[in-house]
Amino acid sequence: MTAATITDGSLVVTDLKVEFDGFVAVGGVSFDAHPGEVRFLIGPNGAGKTTCIDAITGLSKGTGSVKLGGQELLGKRVDKIVKLGVGRTFQTASVFEQLSVLQNLDIAAGLHRSSWSLLRARRGVDPAIEAALEESGLTAERDTPAGILSHGQKQWLEIAMMLVQDPRALLLDEPVAGMSQDERTATGELLHRIAERRVVLVVEHDMDFMRRFATRVTVLHQGTLLSEGTVAQVQADPKVQSVYLGTAGAATTTGMLTVVDATDTNAALTTGEGA
Ligand SMILES: Nc1ncnc2c1ncn2[C@@H]1O[C@H](COP(=O)(O)OP(=O)(O)OP(=O)(O)O)[C@@H](O)[C@H]1O
Ligand SMILES: [Mg+2]
Repeated sequence: MTAATITDGSLVVTDLKVEFDGFVAVGGVSFDAHPGEVRFLIGPNGAGKTTCIDAITGLSKGTGSVKLGGQELLGKRVDKIVKLGVGRTFQTASVFEQLSVLQNLDIAAGLHRSSWSLLRARRGVDPAIEAALEESGLTAERDTPAGILSHGQKQWLEIAMMLVQDPRALLLDEPVAGMSQDERTATGELLHRIAERRVVLVVEHDMDFMRRFATRVTVLHQGTLLSEGTVAQVQADPKVQSVYLGTAGAATTTGMLTVVDATDTNAALTTGEGA
C-alpha cells in the first residue's frame, strides 16, 4: 500500500510533540501506518525515532494525538496501551534466558505456570502460542532454553512474545541490529507476514534492510518529519539527500546512504549495522 488509506486498524499519529525539560525531541510529527504495509521510520541519530515509539507506547509523555483503530492512546498508562493492542520490542531482546521458548511464551501470554501446566496436560499448547511459534518460525525450538538461541532467534522470540497477545500494532526498534544476513532476510519476511493484518512500524538504521522490506518510509530529522513515501520516493527527495547522501548504486548496495549530518557521530547508516 502506498497511498494513505485509513482503516479500522490504522495507527494515526497527529502533531505528536515530546519535550524533555524544554528540549523538543519530537516537534509535532504526523503520520499514519496501516495493516498491510511494513512502515519504516528512519532518520539520523537523535532524530526522535525512539522517542516517537516511547510516546506511542506510553513510556514518554507526549502531546497531540495517537490513535489506534480510532482509540486515543496518548495519556494512557503503558499497561492500558498494551491492552489496547500495542506491542513493542527493544533493541536488546529481553527474554528469560533460563526458560524454554515455550515457557517464555507462556509468561508473555500472562498465564501462571501452575495453572497452565495443568491446562496443558489436558489440552496441549494454547492455540495463540502455537500460532506465534509458527509465525515466528520457532516451532522446532519450542523446548530450547532461550539462552542458547542465536541472536536472531532471540529477537524472533521477543516478537513471538508480542504475537501471543495478538497485538493490533507492533513497533520494533532496530530489530535487525547485530543479525546475520540470513537472519535479516528471515526477519524481513516475518515482518511482512505479521503486517498482513497488523500495523508494523520499524525503526531501523540498516538501509539495505529498509530498501528490501519497507512498503513505505517516514524520515525524521531533528524531531520533525522530513519526507515520506516509497523507498524510491524518499531516496529521490532532495531534502533526504541533504541529510543522507544517496548515490546511483544506492538501490542495490548495502550502506550507500551516507550520513552527512555533521552532528551525527554514529556511522551506523554507512555500515548497515545498528546503532
Ligand atoms: N529521556 C530523555 N531526556 C532528555 N533527552 C532525551 C531523552 N530521550 C531522548 N532524548 C533526546 O531526544 C532526541 C531524540 O532521541 P531519540 O532517542 O528519540 O533519537 P533516535 O532517532 O531514536 O536516535 P538513534 O538513531 O540514535 O536511536 C535526542 O537528542 C536525545 O538526546
Ligand atoms: Mg533510537
